[in-house]
Parts: sequence; structure tokens; C-alpha cells
Amino acid sequence: MNDLDRNVAASLVRMAVQDGVAVIVIDNPPVNALGPGVPEGVIDAVNRAAVEPSIKAIVLMGAGRNFIAGADIRHFGTGMTRPPVGQRAPDLLDQSAKPIVAAIHGYALGGGLEYALACHYRIATAGARVGLPEVLIGAIPGGGGTQRLPRLIGPRAALDMIVSGRHVSAMEAVKLGLLDDLVPEGSDLRAAAVAFAQRIAGLQPLPRVRDMSAKLREAQDDPGLFDAKRQAIAHKARNQQVPYAAIAAVEASCALPFADGLRHERHLFETLETTVEARALRYAFFAEREAAKLPDVPAATPAAAIASVAIIGAGTMGAGIAIACADAGLTVKLFDSMPGALAESLTRIRRTYDVAFARGRLSAFEASQRLGRIEAVHSYAAIRDCEVAIEAVYEDLDTKKAVFAELDAAMKPGALLLTSTSGFDIDLIAGTTQRPQNVAGTHFFSPANVTKLLEVVIGSRTAPAALLTTVRLGRRLGKTCVVARTCEGFLTGRSRAPLDTEMVLLLEEGALPEQVDRVLVDFGYAMGPFAASDLAGLDVAQALRARRAPADPGRSALPIAERLVALGRLGQKTGAGWYRYQEGNRTPHPDPVVAQVIRDQQQAAGIKSRTIADGEILHRLLFGAVNECCRVLEEGLVYRASDIDVAWLHGFGFPRYRGGLMFWADGIGAAEIHRQVSAWHKEYGERWAPAPLLAEVARMGTLLHEQTGLPRR
Ligand code: COA
Repeated sequence: MNDLDRNVAASLVRMAVQDGVAVIVIDNPPVNALGPGVPEGVIDAVNRAAVEPSIKAIVLMGAGRNFIAGADIRHFGTGMTRPPVGQRAPDLLDQSAKPIVAAIHGYALGGGLEYALACHYRIATAGARVGLPEVLIGAIPGGGGTQRLPRLIGPRAALDMIVSGRHVSAMEAVKLGLLDDLVPEGSDLRAAAVAFAQRIAGLQPLPRVRDMSAKLREAQDDPGLFDAKRQAIAHKARNQQVPYAAIAAVEASCALPFADGLRHERHLFETLETTVEARALRYAFFAEREAAKLPDVPAATPAAAIASVAIIGAGTMGAGIAIACADAGLTVKLFDSMPGALAESLTRIRRTYDVAFARGRLSAFEASQRLGRIEAVHSYAAIRDCEVAIEAVYEDLDTKKAVFAELDAAMKPGALLLTSTSGFDIDLIAGTTQRPQNVAGTHFFSPANVTKLLEVVIGSRTAPAALLTTVRLGRRLGKTCVVARTCEGFLTGRSRAPLDTEMVLLLEEGALPEQVDRVLVDFGYAMGPFAASDLAGLDVAQALRARRAPADPGRSALPIAERLVALGRLGQKTGAGWYRYQEGNRTPHPDPVVAQVIRDQQQAAGIKSRTIADGEILHRLLFGAVNECCRVLEEGLVYRASDIDVAWLHGFGFPRYRGGLMFWADGIGAAEIHRQVSAWHKEYGERWAPAPLLAEVARMGTLLHEQTGLPRR
């Protein structure tokens, strides 16, 4: 280390001595990531403690809200040089002759947990969470985690943690043998850690995880363990390398001496670092965090505190929102002008909590506590004191306007009025109130208590404080918020519409629903668009098309879809839609009736059926969406292209390891997409007219996913 590096390291890592124990504190806000200077600072401190005779033991802990959130992901894939295996911080912690106790609070993730695993003891506050989530950002643990964790908790449990990347609670970590002791939440971790260190100071030999081997026998007793894991993830991890590399690394821990295992882990780590999959997953991580930033909301803007929410409309959407709010600890008043609907909704909500209890996801106490937060009310007067009202009535503009007029009259001044419309212009709804500055859209996706995406829609008069409060509320509900400016259909409806159209038009040309679905499932979706349409209801899609028709006449006429609706084939709920279903079973079966409807339409339209290659199907489904997203950006309807990607990941199930629609599109290249869209424009007409932004990005050789929306207000 030169002097400059030493100063950086000293500012990030400090050491104090207390009663014969050196307390090393990492202080690298916001999350104590292991950026440049931190490993050097830790090693420097440990070395100083090693030579100070009065120090008998060492505690390693983090300042602020976390222990260590992991390596600094921003440096992944940049070609930065790393110390050789054997000379990295965890390798050296391990070799300390004085015992080191990791004292964990908040998160110990990735490289953070790897530091803890290299310590000789680990204690944590009861609320702490630990994990090796590298697979979620396209990496495997690269600091010994795949070699130490199996030695400490056994390869089976290690595989589970490393391949899923899940965060494990401190309680579970104790049961797994990962933690040695728990400190009650709220008590002084530092004092507890020092006391613990004093207790173990004289014990020899030091328990080094690298030397443990008993648990590895699990793999000898069950040699099929790793193949079974590969099989178990085969469907979910199709198209991916990272989860398999994680399994291979854990397998190496059982087959190789520790030092060789470390080298193998490093080799696997490095081969993955610059893959498209890794870049896409890292991009998705930062895109999500970027989406939370509101550039046009001044820093000093106050957000209102929310304790109680009124929900108007007790249908499926209203009930889902009520559950999401109750789960987040909010008091909910649920109102519906039809008392029967209200009672039915409460029964449904109760059933949801019963199922959560039966499946062990909630304790009986938690379930009843959450249910107890939801109160059915029978008048607008009863919701007056709530800070927020969320309207979730039937998707009809006049009905919504009427509800907003009632809400405006009933709710206390300053209360926020939110609509869950999936596409009506917010300005039309806000215009019926005296407080348009306090009106915004919260477009939830069904089931509202499960789907991660919340599209927050701002009207032209929505105040920055109202936007901020709405986004904070969304985050409190556990949602990933994407902000869009109002327009017919919003970001999500607009960007999705071309896919909804092309999937049906492809049938006229010769594809079948099962082929189209297979193409998208092979691409990485959990379900194809026709199976998804059967789940949502063909009548729902038809109503949406009818609504879009005035804005988008070229895309509304889909005779095959209309014909199926006319036949009463509305999807799963009627036992038939794009597929047929057996009683009580959700498995879609291709249906000759649908094939006949398709042939009839081909004849009527004079279209000669052709064989359509899978690649063409994929591009027909997605290029139109990319083109439309360019228009959305041109019109300044979103802050940035990466927000579109976040919306597609969390609202439409776009495969995360492809980054998102626009990131994926850049893999193909804007020039190629523009060429193809232009060709289809000639062949199919106006619906494929290339967006000027697409043409510009193609010409300039820039990237779609780095585009920003126009200045907004
Ligand atoms: N490297 C670099 N930056 C990181 C980071 C990491 N490992 N972890 C978090 N950050 C940054 C975020 O990008 C964000 O930056 P921003 O404010 O400029 O947008 C900031 O730290 C706060 O993170 P955020 O996720 O918003 O905070 P949170 O409290 O909601 O969540 C964590 C905290 C630790 C759970 C979450 O950040 C996380 O999962 N981090 C990644 C952990 C990981 O994968 N580690 C393995 C790497 S080896």
C-alpha cells in the first residue's frame, strides 16, 4: 500500500482497543460494500492487532445499518486486478493467530458473508440476514464462500443457499450451524461481541472453517446430490450458466483439497464475469435502484406519513391491494357500494390468510393480526380520516370519475387520491376533483398482493410531494415502482400492446398458439402469452383492445380473438380459450377447434398459411414492443429506458438474465432491429412504422437501454 491507499483504507476501516479486544469497524456507506480500500484496511488492522501483545482477540463489524453487503458490484466485469488466491482478505483472516469474531447486524451478503466465514466465530443480532446472493447478479461467490460454506453447514444446505441466493434469517442460520450465537435485537452488539471475544480468547485450536471436513461426508453418503440439484433447477435455469457453475463450485469443495477448491472457484468466477448473463443481471440490479430515483422531485420535498389507507372497490384488485397494505402494517378501510361484494371480498381475504397459515408462510398470530387490520366500511364518511384512498372499481371511466368526485368531497384536505386504473388518462380523473395536485395513478398488476411491479402514474398536475409519497407507499408495500407520465395505456400498456397484437396476427399467417407459447417459454418466460391470456380472460383482452381502438386503429381488429370470444371461449374460467382445459386442471391442451377457427380466418382473409421459424416469431413479438418503447421515450413518458426494463422484468415476467426488453434489444443491435422493423413496415403497413428514436439510435450506434426520456415538466 502507498500512502494514498493507506489513507483511503484508514478512512474506511478503523480500529479501537477495548479490554484486550481489537474492534475493527468497516465504515463505507451506504452499505459497507467491499470497495477499494476496505480489504486493505481490514488486513492492515488485523496485522496491527497481531503484533500488539495486549490484544487477545479481534472483533470485525460494520458501521451503519449493515455488516457488509458484499463486493462492490460496480467493479465486476471491469477487468480490475484482484489479489491472487491465498492473499485475499478472507484468506488472511483465516490465518490469524488471534481469534476473530464476526459481529453481524443488518446484512452480511456475498463477500460480506465470505469475510464472516473466514473468521473463527460468528455472532449476529436476531434481525440480521445472511446469504450468498451472487447468482442473482450473475456471479458465484469468489472469495472462498463456495468452499467454506459446505464445510460449515454441509453441501446440501450450502447448495440451497448458494444456488438460490436467498437471504437467510439469523435464527435459521443458527440452526444451520452458520452462526455461533445470537444477540437480542436492540441490545449492544459491540459490547456483546467484545464479551464473546473475551470468553473465547484463550481457546485453542482456533476453529478454522477451512479445516472442517465432517459435514462434507454428506456428499459421500449421497453421491447423487449434485446431479439431483442440476435436475431440480433444469427448467428454471434453462439458458443460464451461473447456477450450474455454483453447483460445480460446491461440488469441488467435496472433491478437492481446500486450496485447490479455492482456485477452482476463482476460475469459475472469472469465466462468468463478462458473460451476457452476468452483465444482464448486474444491469437489472442497478436498473431497479435507478428506477427508485425521481429526478424531478426536489431533494427537500416532504413525503406524507401514511398510516391508514382506504380502498374503494372490493373486487379482486381491491382485495389484493388491501392484503398488500395490511401485510405492510397499514390500517385498511375497505369500501364497496355493494354490501354483498364487500362480504364476499372479506371471505376471500380471510381465505388467503388461511392458506398462508396452512402453508406455513405465516403464524396464526401474524395471519390474524394482518386480517385484523382490514375493516369493512359502508360509507364514504367512514374513510374521511385516511391519509390515502386507492380506487379499485370496475375499469370504466365514468364510474371512476364518479368515485373521485365522492372521494374529493369525503376525504380530509391533503389526503392523496390514487386510482388503480390500468390505462385511463389520470388527468381526466383528476379533473373531477378540486385537488388534482394530490391525484396520481397506482397501476397494480394482478394478483396485487403478489406481483412486484407498481406503475406509479403522474398526471400533468400531480405535485412532486404526491409523487414522492406514492412511490414511498409503493416501496412500503414491497413493490418495485416504475414511474410513468400519464397517457392512454401508460408505459406498460403501450409497450405491451404490439406483442398482444402480433401474437394473434402470427396465427393468421400460420403459427399455432402452442408454437408461439413455446418460443417465449424457450426464451425464458414462465408461461407463453396465449396461456397467460387464458388465465386473464379473453374478454379482458377484448375490452382492452376496444378501449385502445380509437388511439390505435391499426391494432384493434383481431378476428380470431373475437371469434373465440363469440364462441364463449373466455379462457380457463370457461374451460376453453386459446387452449382447452380439463375440469379442475390448469394444464393447457392444444385444441382442434382453435386450429379450425384459424384456418377459417386464413381463408376469409385470403392468407396462405406458411411455416414460421421460431426466430421470426420471437422478433415479431418483441421488436414491435421495442419500437413502441422508443416512442414512449421520445414522448418523455418515462425517466429512462432502464425503467422500461424494470417494468418488463417485474410486470411481465421477462427473463431477468436477459436484463430487460431494451437491454436484450441492444444484444441484437438497434441497427438490425431498425432494418427489420422497416422491412415489416413495408410488408405489413403502419403498425410497424419505425420510431424516429429507433432510427437515430441505429444511425448513431448508441444503446437503447441507455436512452433517457425527454425533459418532463
Ligand atoms: N456493490 C455496490 N453498490 C451496492 C451494493 C454492492 N454490493 N449493494 C448495494 N449497493 C448500493 C446500491 O446500488 C444503492 O446505491 P444508490 O443509492 O446509488 O442507488 C445503495 O447501495 C443502497 O442499496 P439499496 O439496495 O437501495 O439498499 P437497501 O437497504 O434496500 O438494500 C441490500 C440493501 C444490501 C440488501 C441490497 O443493496 C443488496 O442486495 N445489495 C447487493 C448484495 C449482493 O448481491 N452482494 C453480493 C455481491 S458479492
